[in-house]
Amino acid sequence: MSSFIHGTEIMQAARKGGYAHGAYNTNNLEWTKAILAAAQAKGVPAIVQSSMGAAKYMGGYKVVRQLVEGLVESMNITVPVVMHLDHGNFEAAKEAIEAGYSSVMFDGHDLPFEENLAKTKEIVALAHPKGISVEAEVGSIGGEEDGVVGAGELASVEEAKQLAATGIDFLAAGIGNIHGVYPENWEGLNYDRLSEIADAVDTPLVLHGGSGIPKDQIQKAIDLGVAKINVNTEQQIAWSKAVKAYYAANKDEAEKGFDPRKVLAPGTQAIQETVEERIDWFGSQKGNN
Ligand code: 13P
Repeated sequence: MSSFIHGTEIMQAARKGGYAHGAYNTNNLEWTKAILAAAQAKGVPAIVQSSMGAAKYMGGYKVVRQLVEGLVESMNITVPVVMHLDHGNFEAAKEAIEAGYSSVMFDGHDLPFEENLAKTKEIVALAHPKGISVEAEVGSIGGEEDGVVGAGELASVEEAKQLAATGIDFLAAGIGNIHGVYPENWEGLNYDRLSEIADAVDTPLVLHGGSGIPKDQIQKAIDLGVAKINVNTEQQIAWSKAVKAYYAANKDEAEKGFDPRKVLAPGTQAIQETVEERIDWFGSQKGNN
């Protein structure tokens, strides 16, 4: 078994202590290095997560796990590291458990609730004996796809209670949050629903769609019980801008400027800076006190 931690205690401490840990999506080698370097520089736990799609792109769950493990060793990362599956379906959650992830999200939000509940229980039964934590989802996270913006379905408090009772470690709740860039007419987070859920369950709550939410709204969500905040798009935009600036300045035409290691360096730096800024926003260093 790897040296990863499952993250349950650090997230419980965050919820109690009024701060949060960011969970940052990886896409490749550069992303993984940048996330680990940021966490190490700030002295906070690194929660590296891969979606099913990113894992497929990178060559599978085992490759992702091995990449993260290898970099932890070669980069001399001494902060705790959680290797998390983001938005896994039932099969993906089982595969990631087998591949050595230390934490998995089973996202059954698109199933009838009874099935989401039953399958969440099954994943908990598979994961917990191996010391692996489980995140489940209630309600849904909105998103923009081909120009159609779904607001997401608000989490039901009753369903949140039932999911929490399965023994899950983290609960992602739909509270008006959206993956990707927030549209101009976004109505903001639903704090009433977040408070109701936080009153009903002790489980650390997860805010998905962490990119683009103003800092004061993030702070309020943390104050109300959010302990894990997922951020992906923010790093992608920072990376993309930095690589674009590299080409815009014709740096690829300078001596060996076309070397991919040179092309990708400013983007990697930009990801690291974005993650470090989010660590500050979320108050993650309070966990060190
Ligand atoms: P963003 O891409 O909107 O930051 O959302 C990330 C996320 O919630 C991954 O689960």
